[in-house]
Amino acid sequence: MHYPSRIVKKIALGLFLGISLISLSLWVYAGNKTPNPWTADEIRLIESLHIENLPKAPANPSNSVSKNLLAEKLGHRLFFDPQFSKNGQISCATCHQPNNFFTDKQTKGSGIGSSSHNTRSIVGSAYSPWLYSDGRKDSLWSQALSPLEDPNEHGSNRMQIARLLNNDENYRRVYQSLFGPLPDISDLQRFPKNAAPIPGELGLAWRAMSVQDQKLINEVFVNIGKAIGAYERLLIPGPSRFDAYVNALKKNDLKSQSILLNDSEIRGLRIFINKGNCINCHNGPLFTNDEFHNTGVISSPRDLPDKGRIDGIRKAKKDIFNCMGIYSDDQRKECDELEYARIDQPELLGAIRTPSLRNIESTGPYMHSGQIKTLTAVIEHYNQAPLSMIGHNESEPLRMSRFERRDLVAFLKTLEAPLSTNFLWLEPPSENQ
Ligand code: HEC
Ligand code: HEC
Repeated sequence: MHYPSRIVKKIALGLFLGISLISLSLWVYAGNKTPNPWTADEIRLIESLHIENLPKAPANPSNSVSKNLLAEKLGHRLFFDPQFSKNGQISCATCHQPNNFFTDKQTKGSGIGSSSHNTRSIVGSAYSPWLYSDGRKDSLWSQALSPLEDPNEHGSNRMQIARLLNNDENYRRVYQSLFGPLPDISDLQRFPKNAAPIPGELGLAWRAMSVQDQKLINEVFVNIGKAIGAYERLLIPGPSRFDAYVNALKKNDLKSQSILLNDSEIRGLRIFINKGNCINCHNGPLFTNDEFHNTGVISSPRDLPDKGRIDGIRKAKKDIFNCMGIYSDDQRKECDELEYARIDQPELLGAIRTPSLRNIESTGPYMHSGQIKTLTAVIEHYNQAPLSMIGHNESEPLRMSRFERRDLVAFLKTLEAPLSTNFLWLEPPSENQ
């Protein structure tokens, strides 16, 4: 009679172990399926990246037409118009293509010649106190003047631009209703066909002009920049899948959270805000602190290492088109950013302005000269944190596993979204606009 009871005991034990094993695995499985729990600190960090924290694009006190509809329309036309180039074929939109989030998919921009750098997106640029990878410009309007006269980009000159405006009925009318009368430049003795303060023949022609006449032309040139700046202020990123996830997180809606981001993307987000330290520099709703950092990106073949901010701030300070200059509309000259900017400090050597990561999947190649082709390779770069060719790399090797690197890339891809800008602004203007 002992045997059956022993068998029963064995069966009971077997059943018990079996059931425990099954429930344990169910528990582990369910644990993996529910969204990763976040600590209060992590939630605070994640919420700080939400696009809802982005205020309306600020007006720029140095540009009195920065919120003027007529100026926005004029800027829109200028942005897409190839007339303002040496060969009549290059417009801002040649390199800043609306279909590619205002970049061009190329290593370096290509206009009349090759740009010195990779084309940066201009979406959300209105929020930045500095423009370009070295921040050598301190406003959108002042920035817009550079490509127009860059021999490798538009290759135009301010005298030619003033003439084009004068000769085009439509431009002349809109310009004059915004900025007052255009100067009479019909006297070819005083106003040559082409002139600009740049090296070569154009420079000679420019220096032959009187200072007052130079100022008249500069004013027209600057106003062109101000209209373009007004247009660019309208280019705003839209809410991505990541932002929808943050909405769900705020509402504690676990079901939507698990639908919106998969496990790999959530693990990637966790690395972004913790182990990867990415959020130290890529923070706020645009994923940038608008500061300058040396992250040890190797210069591209044949290029000298980029000195970055150390040169950029010197250029910005002596630019006649900066916030302090006579062409700025800010009467009170409240130019704190420019006045108090760090200058000549060793950490500025090789420091590049942190780019936004919104729509990052669509805006490669990456880094200031397009040195890195894919997001996987960007993460590889941060993982290794190589020595800088110039200055000192601020970041440390991250020692992420292959899986962690894959997760981080998966997270970065959740930042894609159409712009929040009316589509009419994203196409060339129609004739009757
Ligand atoms: C030939 C290509 C090309 C053309 C044409 C061009 N750009 Fe760019 N743009 C670039 C490149 C390259 C950069 C980045 C340069 C750098 O960071 O040093 C840039 C940077 C910018 C930036 C700064 C973005 C940022 O966040 O730093 C703005 C704004 C901009 N361009 C607007 C314009 C406007 C407006 C026009 C037309 C007047 C224009 N660009 C014409 C290639 C071009
Ligand atoms: C110390 C500040 C800093 C940290 C930390 C940092 N970045 Fe960056 N990031 C930058 C700067 C500066 C650049 C531009 C470098 C250049 O162009 O040479 C950049 C560029 C990038 C780019 C390319 C952007 C483009 O449009 O070309 C990506 C993607 C990126 N970072 C992702 C990350 C991720 C992911 C992490 C975390 C592993 C991270 N970053 C950590 C400052 C930082």
